[in-house]
Amino acid sequence: MDDALYTPFEAPYRMSMGLMALRADEWLEADGPWREELAEKRRLLADPPEEMVFTLPGADAGAREALHAMATHLAGQHGERYHLAGGALELPEFEERWDLDDPALEAIDVAGRIAREDVCLMEHDGTAWRLTAASVCFPTRWRLAEKKGQALDAIHAPVPGFEDKLARPVTRFFDHMKVARPVWRLNWSLVDDPALYLPKRHRKRPPDPDLSAENAGSRIWLRVERQTLTRFAVSDAILFTIAIHRWPLARLARLPDAAAKLAEAARTMPEATKSYKAMPNIQAAVLGYLDGLGGEEAG
Ligand code: HEM
Repeated sequence: MDDALYTPFEAPYRMSMGLMALRADEWLEADGPWREELAEKRRLLADPPEEMVFTLPGADAGAREALHAMATHLAGQHGERYHLAGGALELPEFEERWDLDDPALEAIDVAGRIAREDVCLMEHDGTAWRLTAASVCFPTRWRLAEKKGQALDAIHAPVPGFEDKLARPVTRFFDHMKVARPVWRLNWSLVDDPALYLPKRHRKRPPDPDLSAENAGSRIWLRVERQTLTRFAVSDAILFTIAIHRWPLARLARLPDAAAKLAEAARTMPEATKSYKAMPNIQAAVLGYLDGLGGEEAG
Protein backbone atom coordinates (compact mmCIF):
# COMPACT_ATOMS: atom_id res chain seq x y z
CA MET A 1 0.00 0.00 0.00
CA ASP A 2 2.50 2.62 -1.15
CA ASP A 3 1.08 6.11 -1.15
CA ALA A 4 2.17 9.77 -1.20
CA LEU A 5 3.02 10.76 2.40
CA TYR A 6 1.34 13.86 3.80
CA THR A 7 2.28 15.25 7.23
CA PRO A 8 -0.08 18.24 7.71
CA PHE A 9 0.57 18.83 11.42
CA GLU A 10 0.43 22.29 12.90
CA ALA A 11 2.33 22.76 16.15
CA PRO A 12 1.07 24.03 18.47
CA TYR A 13 -2.25 22.49 17.38
CA ARG A 14 -4.49 24.81 15.43
CA MET A 15 -7.72 24.04 13.60
CA SER A 16 -7.64 25.93 10.32
CA MET A 17 -9.28 26.12 6.92
CA GLY A 18 -5.89 25.42 5.35
CA LEU A 19 -7.20 25.82 1.81
CA MET A 20 -4.62 25.75 -1.00
CA ALA A 21 -5.06 26.44 -4.71
CA LEU A 22 -5.50 23.17 -6.60
CA ARG A 23 -3.95 22.67 -10.04
CA ALA A 24 -6.74 21.51 -12.34
CA ASP A 25 -4.63 18.57 -13.54
CA GLU A 26 -4.16 17.34 -9.95
CA TRP A 27 -7.84 17.15 -8.97
CA LEU A 28 -8.41 13.40 -8.59
CA GLU A 29 -5.82 10.75 -7.75
CA ALA A 30 -5.52 7.43 -9.54
CA ASP A 31 -2.30 6.02 -8.16
CA GLY A 32 -1.16 4.42 -4.88
CA PRO A 33 -3.76 1.93 -3.63
CA TRP A 34 -6.25 2.90 -6.39
CA ARG A 35 -7.12 -0.65 -7.36
CA GLU A 36 -7.50 -1.84 -3.75
CA GLU A 37 -9.72 1.14 -2.89
CA LEU A 38 -12.01 0.79 -5.90
CA ALA A 39 -12.34 -2.94 -5.17
CA GLU A 40 -13.18 -2.19 -1.53
CA LYS A 41 -15.87 0.31 -2.64
CA ARG A 42 -17.43 -2.39 -4.84
CA ARG A 43 -17.35 -4.88 -1.95
CA LEU A 44 -19.00 -2.42 0.46
CA LEU A 45 -21.62 -1.18 -2.02
CA ALA A 46 -22.66 -4.75 -2.87
CA ASP A 47 -23.92 -5.15 0.71
CA PRO A 48 -23.71 -1.74 2.42
CA PRO A 49 -23.17 -1.90 6.20
CA GLU A 50 -25.01 1.45 6.44
CA GLU A 51 -26.38 4.05 4.01
CA MET A 52 -23.49 5.00 1.74
CA VAL A 53 -25.18 6.67 -1.24
CA PHE A 54 -28.10 9.07 -1.60
CA THR A 55 -29.44 11.74 -3.96
CA LEU A 56 -32.06 14.17 -2.70
CA PRO A 57 -34.84 15.22 -5.10
CA GLY A 58 -33.53 17.93 -7.44
CA ALA A 59 -29.86 17.06 -6.97
CA ASP A 60 -29.44 14.90 -10.08
CA ALA A 61 -28.40 17.77 -12.39
CA GLY A 62 -25.56 18.83 -10.09
CA ALA A 63 -24.49 15.24 -9.54
CA ARG A 64 -24.46 14.56 -13.28
CA GLU A 65 -22.42 17.70 -13.97
CA ALA A 66 -19.94 16.50 -11.32
CA LEU A 67 -19.84 13.01 -12.85
CA HIS A 68 -19.11 14.38 -16.34
CA ALA A 69 -16.35 16.62 -15.00
CA MET A 70 -14.80 13.73 -13.06
CA ALA A 71 -14.94 11.36 -16.05
CA THR A 72 -13.37 13.96 -18.34
CA HIS A 73 -10.63 14.66 -15.81
CA LEU A 74 -9.87 10.99 -15.09
CA ALA A 75 -9.71 10.04 -18.78
CA GLY A 76 -7.59 13.13 -19.54
CA GLN A 77 -5.11 12.78 -16.67
CA HIS A 78 -5.07 9.02 -16.08
CA GLY A 79 -5.49 7.57 -19.56
CA GLU A 80 -3.74 4.37 -18.48
CA ARG A 81 -6.73 3.52 -16.27
CA TYR A 82 -9.71 5.32 -17.84
CA HIS A 83 -11.01 5.69 -21.41
CA LEU A 84 -13.85 7.95 -22.56
CA ALA A 85 -15.56 6.53 -25.63
CA GLY A 86 -18.94 7.46 -27.10
CA GLY A 87 -20.21 9.13 -23.92
CA ALA A 88 -19.15 6.21 -21.74
CA LEU A 89 -16.29 5.90 -19.25
CA GLU A 90 -14.41 2.61 -19.34
CA LEU A 91 -12.34 1.15 -16.49
CA PRO A 92 -10.60 -1.79 -18.18
CA GLU A 93 -9.08 -3.05 -14.91
CA PHE A 94 -12.60 -3.61 -13.56
CA GLU A 95 -14.10 -4.55 -16.94
CA GLU A 96 -16.64 -1.74 -16.45
CA ARG A 97 -18.26 0.68 -18.86
CA TRP A 98 -20.42 3.49 -17.49
CA ASP A 99 -22.80 5.30 -19.85
CA LEU A 100 -22.60 8.77 -18.30
CA ASP A 101 -26.01 9.88 -19.61
CA ASP A 102 -27.97 6.75 -18.81
CA PRO A 103 -30.92 8.16 -16.82
CA ALA A 104 -31.30 4.80 -15.06
CA LEU A 105 -27.93 5.33 -13.31
CA GLU A 106 -27.66 7.40 -10.13
CA ALA A 107 -24.97 9.91 -11.11
CA ILE A 108 -23.46 10.36 -7.64
CA ASP A 109 -23.25 6.57 -7.21
CA VAL A 110 -21.30 6.24 -10.46
CA ALA A 111 -19.11 9.23 -9.47
CA GLY A 112 -18.23 7.46 -6.22
CA ARG A 113 -17.50 4.14 -7.94
CA ILE A 114 -15.18 5.45 -10.66
CA ALA A 115 -12.89 7.36 -8.29
CA ARG A 116 -10.64 6.68 -5.33
CA GLU A 117 -12.36 9.67 -3.75
CA ASP A 118 -15.64 9.74 -1.84
CA VAL A 119 -17.89 12.51 -3.16
CA CYS A 120 -20.26 14.96 -1.43
CA LEU A 121 -22.36 17.41 -3.44
CA MET A 122 -23.18 20.74 -1.76
CA GLU A 123 -25.94 23.00 -3.13
CA HIS A 124 -27.27 26.35 -1.92
CA ASP A 125 -31.01 26.35 -1.23
CA GLY A 126 -31.30 30.13 -0.78
CA THR A 127 -30.53 29.86 2.92
CA ALA A 128 -27.49 27.63 3.34
CA TRP A 129 -25.11 25.19 1.61
CA ARG A 130 -26.56 21.71 2.05
CA LEU A 131 -25.43 18.17 1.36
CA THR A 132 -27.79 17.08 -1.42
CA ALA A 133 -26.09 13.96 -2.80
CA ALA A 134 -23.20 11.78 -1.71
CA SER A 135 -21.33 8.54 -2.08
CA VAL A 136 -19.22 7.86 1.03
CA CYS A 137 -17.70 4.42 1.57
CA PHE A 138 -14.71 5.48 3.67
CA PRO A 139 -15.97 7.77 6.45
CA THR A 140 -13.54 8.57 9.26
CA ARG A 141 -15.85 7.72 12.18
CA TRP A 142 -19.02 9.57 11.06
CA ARG A 143 -22.37 8.50 9.65
CA LEU A 144 -23.52 9.77 6.25
CA ALA A 145 -27.22 9.26 7.05
CA GLU A 146 -26.93 11.88 9.84
CA LYS A 147 -25.57 14.48 7.39
CA LYS A 148 -28.13 13.99 4.61
CA GLY A 149 -29.64 17.37 3.57
CA GLN A 150 -27.81 19.12 6.42
CA ALA A 151 -26.20 22.55 6.17
CA LEU A 152 -22.43 23.05 6.61
CA ASP A 153 -22.83 24.18 10.23
CA ALA A 154 -24.96 21.21 11.23
CA ILE A 155 -22.64 18.76 9.43
CA HIS A 156 -19.80 20.08 11.58
CA ALA A 157 -21.76 20.30 14.85
CA PRO A 158 -19.69 17.51 16.52
CA VAL A 159 -16.38 19.27 15.69
CA PRO A 160 -15.20 21.24 18.74
CA GLY A 161 -14.45 24.87 17.89
CA PHE A 162 -15.86 24.67 14.35
CA GLU A 163 -18.80 26.94 15.03
CA ASP A 164 -16.62 29.60 16.69
CA LYS A 165 -13.62 29.50 14.40
CA LEU A 166 -14.53 28.04 11.02
CA ALA A 167 -18.27 28.22 10.35
CA ARG A 168 -18.21 31.79 9.11
CA PRO A 169 -15.03 31.69 6.99
CA VAL A 170 -16.06 28.36 5.45
CA THR A 171 -19.52 29.64 4.50
CA ARG A 172 -18.01 32.85 3.15
CA PHE A 173 -15.56 30.82 1.09
CA PHE A 174 -18.38 28.70 -0.36
CA ASP A 175 -20.46 31.81 -1.18
CA HIS A 176 -17.63 33.41 -3.13
CA MET A 177 -16.00 30.36 -4.63
CA LYS A 178 -15.09 30.71 -8.32
CA VAL A 179 -15.72 27.99 -10.89
CA ALA A 180 -12.16 28.09 -12.20
CA ARG A 181 -10.50 28.13 -8.77
CA PRO A 182 -10.65 24.68 -7.13
CA VAL A 183 -8.93 24.22 -3.77
CA TRP A 184 -7.65 21.42 -1.57
CA ARG A 185 -6.86 20.80 2.08
CA LEU A 186 -5.61 18.03 4.35
CA ASN A 187 -7.09 16.66 7.55
CA TRP A 188 -5.30 14.14 9.79
CA SER A 189 -6.34 11.54 12.35
CA LEU A 190 -4.58 8.78 14.26
CA VAL A 191 -6.48 5.51 14.27
CA ASP A 192 -5.88 1.99 15.58
CA ASP A 193 -7.37 0.31 12.52
CA PRO A 194 -6.17 0.53 8.91
CA ALA A 195 -9.65 -0.27 7.50
CA LEU A 196 -10.88 2.18 4.87
CA TYR A 197 -14.43 2.03 6.22
CA LEU A 198 -14.36 3.41 9.79
CA PRO A 199 -17.93 3.66 11.09
CA LYS A 200 -18.96 6.15 13.75
CA ARG A 201 -19.11 3.43 16.42
CA HIS A 202 -15.29 3.19 16.25
CA ARG A 203 -15.17 6.31 18.40
CA LYS A 204 -16.47 4.25 21.30
CA ARG A 205 -14.06 1.34 21.02
CA PRO A 206 -12.47 0.31 24.32
CA PRO A 207 -8.73 0.86 24.72
CA ASP A 208 -6.45 -1.90 23.43
CA PRO A 209 -4.63 -3.22 26.52
CA ASP A 210 -1.74 -4.49 24.37
CA LEU A 211 -1.01 -1.11 22.77
CA SER A 212 2.31 0.33 23.96
CA ALA A 213 5.00 2.82 22.99
CA GLU A 214 6.98 -0.16 21.65
CA ASN A 215 4.32 -1.36 19.19
CA ALA A 216 2.51 1.91 18.35
CA GLY A 217 4.65 2.26 15.20
CA SER A 218 2.87 -0.69 13.61
CA ARG A 219 -0.49 -0.63 15.45
CA ILE A 220 -1.37 3.05 15.05
CA TRP A 221 -2.08 4.48 11.64
CA LEU A 222 -1.80 8.02 10.39
CA ARG A 223 -4.94 8.62 8.33
CA VAL A 224 -4.92 11.75 6.19
CA GLU A 225 -7.88 12.93 4.16
CA ARG A 226 -6.95 14.78 0.98
CA GLN A 227 -10.01 16.91 0.34
CA THR A 228 -10.87 19.03 -2.70
CA LEU A 229 -13.61 21.55 -3.49
CA THR A 230 -14.73 22.33 -7.06
CA ARG A 231 -17.59 24.57 -8.17
CA PHE A 232 -19.55 23.82 -11.35
CA ALA A 233 -20.68 26.42 -13.88
CA VAL A 234 -24.14 25.16 -14.85
CA SER A 235 -25.67 23.73 -11.66
CA ASP A 236 -23.65 26.04 -9.37
CA ALA A 237 -23.11 23.02 -7.10
CA ILE A 238 -19.83 22.50 -5.21
CA LEU A 239 -18.29 19.04 -5.08
CA PHE A 240 -16.33 18.04 -1.97
CA THR A 241 -14.08 15.03 -2.50
CA ILE A 242 -12.26 13.01 0.14
CA ALA A 243 -9.39 10.60 -0.57
CA ILE A 244 -7.99 8.51 2.28
CA HIS A 245 -4.24 8.06 2.70
CA ARG A 246 -2.94 5.69 5.41
CA TRP A 247 0.49 4.84 6.75
CA PRO A 248 1.66 3.02 9.88
CA LEU A 249 3.02 5.56 12.35
CA ALA A 250 6.45 3.99 11.81
CA ARG A 251 6.59 5.77 8.44
CA LEU A 252 7.49 8.87 10.47
CA ALA A 253 10.62 7.19 11.86
CA ARG A 254 12.78 8.79 9.19
CA LEU A 255 11.03 12.16 9.44
CA PRO A 256 12.03 13.54 12.85
CA ASP A 257 10.63 17.01 12.17
CA ALA A 258 7.20 15.67 11.23
CA ALA A 259 7.24 13.25 14.19
CA ALA A 260 8.11 16.08 16.60
CA LYS A 261 5.39 18.30 15.14
CA LEU A 262 2.79 15.55 15.46
CA ALA A 263 3.79 14.97 19.09
CA GLU A 264 3.50 18.68 19.84
CA ALA A 265 0.15 18.93 18.04
CA ALA A 266 -1.15 15.98 20.10
CA ARG A 267 0.12 17.55 23.33
CA THR A 268 -1.30 21.02 22.69
CA MET A 269 -4.73 20.00 21.37
CA PRO A 270 -7.65 21.25 23.48
CA GLU A 271 -9.21 18.48 25.61
CA ALA A 272 -12.48 18.58 23.63
CA THR A 273 -10.56 18.10 20.38
CA LYS A 274 -8.57 15.21 21.88
CA SER A 275 -11.75 13.51 22.82
CA TYR A 276 -13.39 14.24 19.41
CA LYS A 277 -10.36 12.78 17.65
CA ALA A 278 -10.49 9.70 19.96
CA MET A 279 -6.96 10.38 21.20
CA PRO A 280 -7.29 9.51 24.90
CA ASN A 281 -7.06 5.71 24.36
CA ILE A 282 -3.92 5.94 22.26
CA GLN A 283 -2.24 9.15 23.38
CA ALA A 284 0.27 7.68 25.85
CA ALA A 285 1.47 5.00 23.42
CA VAL A 286 1.65 7.45 20.51
CA LEU A 287 3.63 10.05 22.45
CA GLY A 288 5.91 7.39 23.92
CA TYR A 289 6.63 6.12 20.41
CA LEU A 290 7.14 9.58 18.85
CA ASP A 291 9.32 10.80 21.71
CA GLY A 292 11.41 7.65 21.35
CA LEU A 293 12.07 8.56 17.72
CA GLY A 294 13.25 12.03 18.73
CA GLY A 295 15.63 10.47 21.27
CA GLU A 296 17.16 8.18 18.65
CA GLU A 297 17.66 11.11 16.30
CA ALA A 298 19.34 13.17 19.03
CA GLY A 299 21.57 10.25 19.96
C1 HEM B 1 -13.52 24.66 3.55
C2 HEM B 1 -14.28 23.64 3.83
C3 HEM B 1 -14.20 22.79 5.05
C4 HEM B 1 -13.42 22.87 6.16
C5 HEM B 1 -12.37 23.94 6.49
C6 HEM B 1 -13.76 21.75 7.02
C7 HEM B 1 -13.17 21.48 8.24
C8 HEM B 1 -13.41 20.38 9.03
C9 HEM B 1 -12.70 20.06 10.24
C10 HEM B 1 -11.59 20.89 10.86
C11 HEM B 1 -13.20 18.90 10.72
C12 HEM B 1 -12.72 18.15 11.95
C13 HEM B 1 -11.79 17.06 11.49
C14 HEM B 1 -10.83 16.50 12.51
O1 HEM B 1 -10.12 17.26 13.16
O2 HEM B 1 -10.73 15.26 12.64
C15 HEM B 1 -14.25 18.48 9.80
C16 HEM B 1 -15.01 17.36 9.95
C17 HEM B 1 -15.99 16.99 9.06
N1 HEM B 1 -16.31 17.62 7.87
FE1 HEM B 1 -15.56 19.32 7.16
N2 HEM B 1 -14.73 21.01 6.43
C18 HEM B 1 -15.04 21.61 5.22
C19 HEM B 1 -15.97 21.20 4.32
C20 HEM B 1 -16.78 20.12 4.47
C21 HEM B 1 -17.82 19.74 3.56
C22 HEM B 1 -18.21 20.45 2.27
C23 HEM B 1 -18.39 18.62 4.05
C24 HEM B 1 -19.53 17.92 3.37
C25 HEM B 1 -19.95 16.73 3.63
C26 HEM B 1 -17.70 18.29 5.29
C27 HEM B 1 -17.95 17.19 6.09
C28 HEM B 1 -17.34 16.92 7.29
C29 HEM B 1 -17.69 15.78 8.12
C30 HEM B 1 -18.77 14.76 7.83
C31 HEM B 1 -16.85 15.83 9.22
C32 HEM B 1 -16.89 14.85 10.42
C33 HEM B 1 -17.99 15.37 11.36
C34 HEM B 1 -18.34 14.38 12.44
O3 HEM B 1 -17.42 13.86 13.10
O4 HEM B 1 -19.55 14.13 12.61
N3 HEM B 1 -16.73 19.22 5.51
N4 HEM B 1 -14.35 19.40 8.78
